[in-house]
Amino acid sequence: MDDILRDDPMDTLKLLDSTAPITHVDFGIPAAVLAEMTHRCPLQCPYCSNPVELERSSVELSTEEWKKVMTELAEIGVLQFHFSGGEPTVRKDIVELVKHARAVGLYTNLITSAVMLTEAKVKELADAGLDHAQVSFQGAESGVADRIAGFKDAHKKKLQAAQWIKEAGLPLTVNAVMHRQNLHQLPDIIEMAVAIGASRLEVANVQYYGWALKNRAALMPTVEQLDATTKLVEESRDRLKGKLVIDYVIPDYYAERPKKCMGGWGRQFFNISPSGKVLPCHAAESITGLEFDSVRGNKSIAWIWQNSDAFQKYRGTGWMPEPCKSCDFREIDWGGCRCQAFALTGDAGNTDPACHLSPLHDKIFKLAQTEAATDVREFKYRNYANATPKAEVN
Ligand code: SF4
Ligand code: FES
Repeated sequence: MDDILRDDPMDTLKLLDSTAPITHVDFGIPAAVLAEMTHRCPLQCPYCSNPVELERSSVELSTEEWKKVMTELAEIGVLQFHFSGGEPTVRKDIVELVKHARAVGLYTNLITSAVMLTEAKVKELADAGLDHAQVSFQGAESGVADRIAGFKDAHKKKLQAAQWIKEAGLPLTVNAVMHRQNLHQLPDIIEMAVAIGASRLEVANVQYYGWALKNRAALMPTVEQLDATTKLVEESRDRLKGKLVIDYVIPDYYAERPKKCMGGWGRQFFNISPSGKVLPCHAAESITGLEFDSVRGNKSIAWIWQNSDAFQKYRGTGWMPEPCKSCDFREIDWGGCRCQAFALTGDAGNTDPACHLSPLHDKIFKLAQTEAATDVREFKYRNYANATPKAEVN
């Protein structure tokens, strides 16, 4: 198949509609795309999902390049555009970009730490057509939350921003990343989410690759903590039915089978890095040896999604080793997470060790239990500017 050139969107659409017997046409364009507008961020969360090697601001897509990307995404059938980062509001053109996304018909969601928002900026974003805001919280009160974020008064600013978001009439999701050092605050985080008018709460236990892997000993919860959390989430879901939807993600290490990461590699999802690389997941660049095509090249986004080596490499089941190869779950969890397999075994083509059938499962589970039992509290912070003071431990 010849390359489909970016300048010819009709060809791109033809490819998507093609009934020709081409295996890669099986993978329809995802409904939602996550755009890392920048890796710049004032917070230093020790479990940040951005790559350990951050992209500098000098390589970020320009306003016009992002607009072109959005237009192309809308043309090929993407419905939702998630503005993420780093911190997307660091970009001075964020309002203009939201406006453009809406103009081309994309549903817009802002995933933000909220510490840089002002009341005026929230109003501008709402006026530009922003559909939804998702604010991360690191705890239920400043002592714990600000230390984890590595940012003074972060919690206070987030509460204020949440109020502005609600006053602007925007639906709000609270995103709470949980680990050993803040799980005790989950009951209060749930009450806080209700109090600030969130309609959804994501209780996401840390997943361990990138920064989180560096901080695993300080973050890993105990089995007892996790059991108590699962019980609390179930009770709260019942109690708050119709008021607050609670999504819940447990840490892989304590699961029997791995999560269906990204809905399966190259099946339901892609994201775009600040410089325009099209990635199968936010952590894909942690896998060394994979080359990622960029929206700055001469290929259309649809071509990259369907044909590029990085997406093809672990798509489907053909790449799988045993025990996945002959496992009944191979088309349910698609072998788990490639990034985790790489981080823990050095080969992204191995079975995710989170699976109890992986020969490495027992070893990593025991390691997790050992780390959870330590009193390691100090974080190695993600640090964009190399300027974070050493964190105090409280
Ligand atoms: Fe999933 Fe592979 Fe484990 Fe089977 S062996 S449950 S396909 S990770
Ligand atoms: Fe990359 Fe799971 S985070 S495949």
